[in-house]
Amino acid sequence: MKAIYLDNNATTPLDPRVLDVMLPYLAEHFGNAASKSHRFGWIAEEAVEKAREQAAQLIGVTAEEVIWTSGATESCNLAIKGIAHRYHEKGRHIVTQVTEHRAVLDTCKHLEDQGFRVTYLPVDVYGQIDLDRLQDAMTEDTILVSIMSANNEIGTVQPIAEIGKLCKDRGVFFHTDATQAFGKIPLSAGQRSEVADGMGIDLLSASGHKMYGPKGAGILYLRRKNPRVLIEANIHGGGHERGLRSGTLNVPAIVGFGAAAEICMKQMEGEAQRLGRLRDKLFSGLEARLEDIVLHGPPPRGHAAQRLPNTANISFRHVESESLMSMLEDIAVSSGSACTSATPGPSHVLKALGIGDELIYSSIRFSLGRFNTEEEIERTIERIAETVRSLRGEIGAERRATTT
Ligand SMILES: Cc1ncc(COP(=O)(O)O)c(C=O)c1O
Repeated sequence: MKAIYLDNNATTPLDPRVLDVMLPYLAEHFGNAASKSHRFGWIAEEAVEKAREQAAQLIGVTAEEVIWTSGATESCNLAIKGIAHRYHEKGRHIVTQVTEHRAVLDTCKHLEDQGFRVTYLPVDVYGQIDLDRLQDAMTEDTILVSIMSANNEIGTVQPIAEIGKLCKDRGVFFHTDATQAFGKIPLSAGQRSEVADGMGIDLLSASGHKMYGPKGAGILYLRRKNPRVLIEANIHGGGHERGLRSGTLNVPAIVGFGAAAEICMKQMEGEAQRLGRLRDKLFSGLEARLEDIVLHGPPPRGHAAQRLPNTANISFRHVESESLMSMLEDIAVSSGSACTSATPGPSHVLKALGIGDELIYSSIRFSLGRFNTEEEIERTIERIAETVRSLRGEIGAERRATTT
């Protein structure tokens, strides 16, 4: 039987429609988008610019405001270091929060070593920051607020528009790591959105491989008007991307990013509804079959706006997630964050919610995606319920009870 992939927050499969659009750029259209003197270069450049427009449209910004990178880690580095190094004479203070991805946290730590001051805001039991605390944290010295749109481990969505407004009122730049939200929930950053200035986002990072595009392409959105955001480059060289990110562009991956963004734009609403329903079915199915399970992050029902539609992080008390996963060879899930699995240890996100080690080590992240079916969710519920009960010794105990 086909394995069930429920680890879409780590990476998504490539949408076959995206692959079709990419293939010619891995074959006959191999030109360098920076080659201005022949048609091989022109074809590549045209494709890159079309993709830039597709990416821009998804977040209501203009194509000139989008810079191509290799992925969200690079975009977050470029955004945060880029602002810090450009505006260090204006101020040396940055505000972020404790459940950010390490692409943001480690970049901030690096800047602390260089003499910047960073405030790490705490989160509540649902994983949200407190807006009053954010307001209090901003000082005359603050140049940047960096708060993720949605969390990769628990799916908590932050109040982005409210944060954008606070930053605007204080004249502080606002960067959001939108890696997990881009293409999944509506995000409007700029002038093109229905709301003037959208959600007040000045810089936004996103990645192709989290929204059914390829690995190796990401974007950084940089606001051009009201206010114009300037950054210092991290990578120097041939002056690509207006000198902000040098290096030959990865044309096939960029083309794939654009195609993936266009599909997300068309399907987002329906897909969010479908995945939200499947995710709720997964949790209520497990809850009906098992005692002692805990859903982390926002509450399961009635708080749809605060949780990504595809994510559920659940602890199965008295069962170690590593043992559970090793018995579920045909179901791909993760414990903690696959993005940070190079350094194992209890998840910093679950710790920040005040969850104890025992529950952390029994937590599993289920992240659903476009290609999951209702039948797969039903199979997952049965397989997990059976495996958890067997690991807890319940099945053996029941058999013993019926034979005595
Ligand atoms: C919230 C978040 N930010 C950043 C990243 C890094 O993205 P990338 O793999 O594109 O570098 C990830 C995932 O890996 C993520 O989930």
